[in-house]
Amino acid sequence: NLTATIAGFNFEHIMLNAAGVMCQTAEELDSVLASAHTGAVVTKSATSSLRPGNPAPRYYELPNKLGTINSMGLPNEGFNYYMDYVAKKQTHKPIFFSIAGLSKQENLEMLHQLQDSDFNGLVELNLSCPNVPGKPQTAYDFEATQAILTEAFTFFTKPLGVKLPPYFDIVHFDDIANILNQFPLAFVNTINSIGNGLVIDDATDTVVIKPKGGFGGVGGTLVKATALANVRALRLRLNPEIKIIGTGGVTSGRDVYDHILCGADLVEVGSQLAIEGVAVFERLERELSEIIIEKGYTSLADFRGQLKVI
Ligand code: DHB
Repeated sequence: NLTATIAGFNFEHIMLNAAGVMCQTAEELDSVLASAHTGAVVTKSATSSLRPGNPAPRYYELPNKLGTINSMGLPNEGFNYYMDYVAKKQTHKPIFFSIAGLSKQENLEMLHQLQDSDFNGLVELNLSCPNVPGKPQTAYDFEATQAILTEAFTFFTKPLGVKLPPYFDIVHFDDIANILNQFPLAFVNTINSIGNGLVIDDATDTVVIKPKGGFGGVGGTLVKATALANVRALRLRLNPEIKIIGTGGVTSGRDVYDHILCGADLVEVGSQLAIEGVAVFERLERELSEIIIEKGYTSLADFRGQLKVI
C-alpha cells in the first residue's frame, strides 16, 4: 500500500511526472493520468500567454545514461489552456497546476485566477525556472521569495506549494527553510534541474543545445546526490505540515526508495520519463516494491525520513 496524502488529497501511487516532462498538451497529460502506476499529474508550468519557447535543439540526452540538459524556455500553451484542461478533466487523481510567471505580478495574477476558479486541485508555484534569458531564478533571491509568498497568502486559500531549485550551501538550506516555515505551504518540491550546466559534444567541440550559448538545466543521474541532499536538508528543517515532493535523478526503484528515506512523500520522474516514456512508472513501482518487501517493511511510513547517519 504505497500511497501518500497531501493537504487532504489522497495519492494512490506516489509517483508522477516532473513538471516540464510529458505535460504540455492535453494528450500528454492524459497519458500520465492513464498510467496505472501514477498517483497524480503536474501540468507544464504555465505563463499567462502561450509561449513557443527557445529555438531547437533545446533538449539533449547525455551518453551512458548520465542524464539530460535542456533549455526549453518555458514553451507552454498558456494559462487558459491548462485551466480548460483541469475544468473538463474527469479523474480521481489529484492534479498539480504549475505556474511560472515571468514576474511577481504575473504569478499573483494567475494565483488570483486560480483562487477565483472552480479548480480544486493543488497549485505548484515554480520559483526555479533557469531557462528564460534575462530572468533569474526567484528562489535564489530570498527577499523576492519571501515577498511573493507574503502577497500570495494574503488571498490564496487553496493548497499551494513551491518548486525550488537546488541549494548547495548549508546556510542557504537554513535561509530558505526559515522563509518557507512562515507560510502555510502544503508542500515543497525539490529539486528543479541544476541550472546552467554546459555539455560539449566531443566529436565536434560544440555545445549540444542552441539557447544561451549551450547553457541549460541538468537532470537525471548526474543530479541525484544534489536532489537527495535537498530533500534531506529541507525535511530536517521544514515544519512537519509541509510535505516534500522529491524530484531529481530517479532512474530506478532504489532511487525512489532513497528519496523516501530522505523524507519525500511523493517522487517525481523527469529525465527518465522523457527517455523511457510512461512505462517507467510500472518499472519503478515494481522495483520499489521488491526493495520494500526484501527489507520487511509494510508501508512507506516504516522508512520515510529514516535515513541513518554514522
Ligand atoms: C523550463 C525549465 C524549468 O526547469 C522550469 O522550471 C520551467 C521551465 C523550460 O525551460 O521550459
